[in-house]
Amino acid sequence: MTQTQSRVDEYLSRGLRHLWVQTQQYNDLAKDDGFVVINGGDGIYVSDIKGRRFIDAMSGLWVVAVGHGRTELADVAKRQMETLAYANPFAYATEPAVDLATKLAEITPPSIQKAFFVNSGSEAVESAIRMAKQYHFNNGERRKTKVIARIGSYHGTTAMAMSVNGAAYMNKKPFEPLVPGVIHVENINCARCPFEKTYPECEVFCARHVEDEIKFQDPATIAAIIAEPISTANGCWVPQQEYWQILRDICDRHNILLIADEVIDGFGRTGKWFGIQHYPIEPDIMTVAKGISSGYAPISAALASDKVAEAFVGDRQDAFVGGITWGANPVSCAVALANIEIIERERLVENAESVGGHLAKQLQELRTRHKVIADTRGIGLMHTLEMKRNPETGEDFREDDNVSARMPELLKQQGILARAGAAISIAPPLVINREEVDALIDGLDQAIGQLEQDLQIA
Ligand SMILES: Cc1ncc(COP(=O)(O)O)c(C=O)c1O
Repeated sequence: MTQTQSRVDEYLSRGLRHLWVQTQQYNDLAKDDGFVVINGGDGIYVSDIKGRRFIDAMSGLWVVAVGHGRTELADVAKRQMETLAYANPFAYATEPAVDLATKLAEITPPSIQKAFFVNSGSEAVESAIRMAKQYHFNNGERRKTKVIARIGSYHGTTAMAMSVNGAAYMNKKPFEPLVPGVIHVENINCARCPFEKTYPECEVFCARHVEDEIKFQDPATIAAIIAEPISTANGCWVPQQEYWQILRDICDRHNILLIADEVIDGFGRTGKWFGIQHYPIEPDIMTVAKGISSGYAPISAALASDKVAEAFVGDRQDAFVGGITWGANPVSCAVALANIEIIERERLVENAESVGGHLAKQLQELRTRHKVIADTRGIGLMHTLEMKRNPETGEDFREDDNVSARMPELLKQQGILARAGAAISIAPPLVINREEVDALIDGLDQAIGQLEQDLQIA
C-alpha cells in the first residue's frame, strides 16, 4: 500500500526512535534508506511503506517456505482462535498440538516420534540440550554434561544456544561467563580445510577428529554433539556423504546423543524434508523452527527419538524439567500443520530440489560473468555466493570498500532484499519458479556489475 510522504516520514522517525531493530546498529539504520518498513507480501515478493516491491531472496530469514500472503493460513488461525486460543501446556494437551506432533512423526526420520513445542529456534536448541543432559542424568550417567559444537556454527541467542555458537561474527564477550562445558571442534570447509587436507584422501578428518577431542575430554563427560546437517552459518558447505555416518558412529561408541539442528534446513529448504535425510543416519534429537510455520505463527520444537523419550518415563522427578508458557500454543500448532499440508499438497520439497537445481546452474553461470565471484555453492533453495576483490590471488575486499553496507543497498536498488556483504545468502521461498529465479539472477547480475564498476574492478 502506498502511503503519503508525510506519513512515511512520520513512521520512519517514530520507528527509529522507539523500535529496537534486532541485531542492527542504530547508526546504520539512521542512514539514508537504512530503515526499511515492510508492510505487505505476496508469493516471493514483499513491499515496503515507500511503495517499493522486492524479491524476498532470504524468505525473511529462511522462514517463509510457502511464500507470503497465504490467506488460507490466516483463516486457520482465525478459526482456531475462535475455538480455543490457549490452554495450559504444563498440564494439558490440545487437538492441534496432538495433530501437529503426529504429522511431524510422520515426516521426520522413523525413530523421531515425540515433539516438545516451544517458540523459537533458540528455545528449541535450549530444550534439546537440556533434554540431552537430563537423558543421561535419568540414566544414571550424571557426569555426562558437556556439549560438543562446531566452530562457525549458529544456534541462537538464549544462554545455552549462545554458548554453543561458534560463529566469528557473533560478539559473545559481553555475556561471559557463558554456560560452562561447551567444547568447540573444527567445522567442515573443503575450500580452506582447517587441517590443510583434501577430500577424499583426508577420509573426512573434520568428522574423525571429533573423537580425539571426546577422548581427550573423557567420553564419560560428554552429553551431546549439536550440528546443522547442512550449515548456512558456515557458508553452505554440504558435508561429504561419510561425514554424518562418522559422527553417528562416534556418538554410538561413546553413548553421546546426536542433535541435528534443522532450524534452517527443515521443511524442504534443502530439497528433502529435512537436511539429515541427505545422509544414511538418524539423529537422536532434532530441532525445528522457521519453515515449520513459514512465519505465520511463532513455533518451534525439540523432536526426540523413542530412545530419548523413554528415559523420561518413570517417577515424577524423571519428567522433563521446565516448560514454557507459550509452548504448544494451539493457534501456532494449527497454523504449522496447515503450513506443512501446503508444502505437501504443492510439492514444495520437490520444487526446492528442481528449481534449486536451476538456481545453482544460474549462479555458476553468473560466476563466469563476474570477476569478483569466488564461489557459489549450496543445495536445494539454500545457496551462498562468495565474493572477493581478487579471487585469483585470494585478496579479500578492503575495509574502505565497505561491501557489507554497499551490497545490500545495490541489491535493494535492483529490487532484492537479501543478507549480503562479501557473501550473499540466497534462499528464496520454496514456491519460487524458474522465471522468478531468472529475475533474481538478473538483479544479482546488475548489482554485482555495479559493485565491480564502483570499486573499479575490471
Ligand atoms: C541453525 C539455527 N539454529 C537456531 C537458530 C535460532 O533460531 P531463532 O532465531 O528462532 O531463535 C537459528 C537462527 O537463525 C539457526 O539458523
